Amino acid sequence: MKTIVAIDGPAGAGKSTVAKKIAEKLGLIFMNTGSFYRGLTLMLLRDCGSDEAGYGGKKVNLEDRKGIIDFTETLSFEYSSDGLSINGENVEQYLRNDAVESIVSPVSAIPEVRRILNRKIRAVAEKTGVVCEGRDMTTVVFPDTPHKFYLDASVETRAMRRFTQGTSSLSLDEIRKSIEQRDNLDRNKEEGSLRISPDAFYLDSSGLTIDEVCDIMLAEILGKGIHNGAEGSGKGC
Ligand code: DC
Repeated sequence: MKTIVAIDGPAGAGKSTVAKKIAEKLGLIFMNTGSFYRGLTLMLLRDCGSDEAGYGGKKVNLEDRKGIIDFTETLSFEYSSDGLSINGENVEQYLRNDAVESIVSPVSAIPEVRRILNRKIRAVAEKTGVVCEGRDMTTVVFPDTPHKFYLDASVETRAMRRFTQGTSSLSLDEIRKSIEQRDNLDRNKEEGSLRISPDAFYLDSSGLTIDEVCDIMLAEILGKGIHNGAEGSGKGC
């Protein structure tokens, strides 16, 4: 049984930064589960005649749910420290293109697509052991792992972090409003909405540094023990 560390929380709480650092410390793979939704979207674009990066094809018909669901089933996903491969091709370099960005959200909102991808995410994660983050990792995808975390931070803290990153052209107030809107969408999605699992370790990172957050989480994980060796020979720490 491989170690799975599942982290949920709102946008901007520092989940991916923390997940990467913890994966490194524990010798596990950091799995960005959004990549599965992005990878599927890229393949849908290609299936509509786009180039390999997802540009230039016909519009993906998002109304054709059955077609999208059947297509999702046909794809074979692998995940390593180099990222996501689909049908044997590493597609990481294309996943954050505008073409993918523009339709990944409605694709990820299709409940049957979520169920198929969650199954594929589980299969990949259980082979290697992972630290993964998202919105429904602790509640839907890996409810049975002992290592469940909900990483929170106040709206003000998250807005200030984003603002000081300098990657956005929005004002601090505009960033705060967009975070509030995204929180609202995440919490009210039809399936896979953001909720706090009752047995997740809740941590509010407002006022803590990334290293302090990692230290608290690592102590909690190691206190429970991990398995990252070969199947059946887990070494507890
Ligand atoms: O985290 P990200 O921006 O790479 O996610 C891409 C899209 O997939 C985004 O619309 C949210 C969605 N997503 C999801 O629905 N469930 C996940 N576990 C991860 C991402």
